[in-house]
Amino acid sequence: MAVNFDASSENEAGLLRFLKSQLLFTPPLITREEVDLAGKTAIVTGANVGLGLECARQLLDLGCKVILAVRSEARGEAARRQLAQGCDAQLDDVEIWKLDLNSYDSVVNFAERAKTLTGLDIAALDAGIYKVEDSFNSITGYEEDIQVNYLSNALRTLLLVPILADKKTGDAPGRIVLVSSGIANATKFNEKESNPILPVFKKKMEPKWLFKERYGTSKVLVQMFVAELAKRVPSSAVVVTVASPGFCHKSEIIRDGEGRFVGLLTVSQSRLRSTSE
Ligand SMILES: NC(=O)c1ccc[n+]([C@@H]2O[C@H](COP(=O)([O-])OP(=O)(O)OC[C@H]3O[C@@H](n4cnc5c(N)ncnc54)[C@H](OP(=O)(O)O)[C@@H]3O)[C@@H](O)[C@H]2O)c1
Repeated sequence: MAVNFDASSENEAGLLRFLKSQLLFTPPLITREEVDLAGKTAIVTGANVGLGLECARQLLDLGCKVILAVRSEARGEAARRQLAQGCDAQLDDVEIWKLDLNSYDSVVNFAERAKTLTGLDIAALDAGIYKVEDSFNSITGYEEDIQVNYLSNALRTLLLVPILADKKTGDAPGRIVLVSSGIANATKFNEKESNPILPVFKKKMEPKWLFKERYGTSKVLVQMFVAELAKRVPSSAVVVTVASPGFCHKSEIIRDGEGRFVGLLTVSQSRLRSTSE
């Protein structure tokens, strides 16, 4: 059953709301006294850098065992060493599993491997991209933001729900968190009138490529997917939610825009958020 929050898109969207949350709000760090995850296991995707890396660090600090789901094992290994240095966790608490969201086979193989775990409680699906130039998946033909942020994430979520329901430890429900973006609130989503809708995302955007619009559309689709899924998955078994983190620094999300105006703008906006560092 879906959970209702005291929030509406009208209140959440908008420049003032963005500035308020970006400038005036620093999410407090959760301590192990408040939440003890000893004995729990989490999968974190996109865990070698950015939000995923920080999420893995905080889960480890709360006592959780963490599986870093990464497409480059070398980058995953570097992250694992970094994590083991930065907190009380042992290297044994951190595993590295390969996952490439450009490939459905990889997503399915990852889920098959997850079935072999003795316990699984949390999946934080952080991996995502923001393409400044358009590009298309060589296997499926879909534009890459749509493929990685929406389609592969949706498949992965659908495959993980029954596994979490089956493998969660204790009475608490399993948790799956997907990551959206405030940009979704400012997205026109002109493709919404197309029927069928998916083939549109195999074509070049007309009249020209608008990267913010396409990224935002991939996140709107994630939100719509999760809203529908949450109605169908009992929250006593698995809670499926979407987080919107605001601009965060130490991220590589705008790597395509490095050295360009959009890259500089994003980095400067992300630095507006005060941090606990
Ligand atoms: N940073 C922000 O300010 C911000 C704001 C709102 C929402 N978000 C969302 O937060 C999530 C994390 O963003 P971030 O800022 O942490 O970005 P990031 O620093 O660029 O990290 C993205 C992660 O996703 C992985 N990834 C990309 N393509 C993949 C693929 N095909 N298969 C598997 N992994 C893949 C990357 O792996 P590689 O390193 O191997 O490429 C990297 O680990 C994204 O969904 C993003 O849209 C970020």
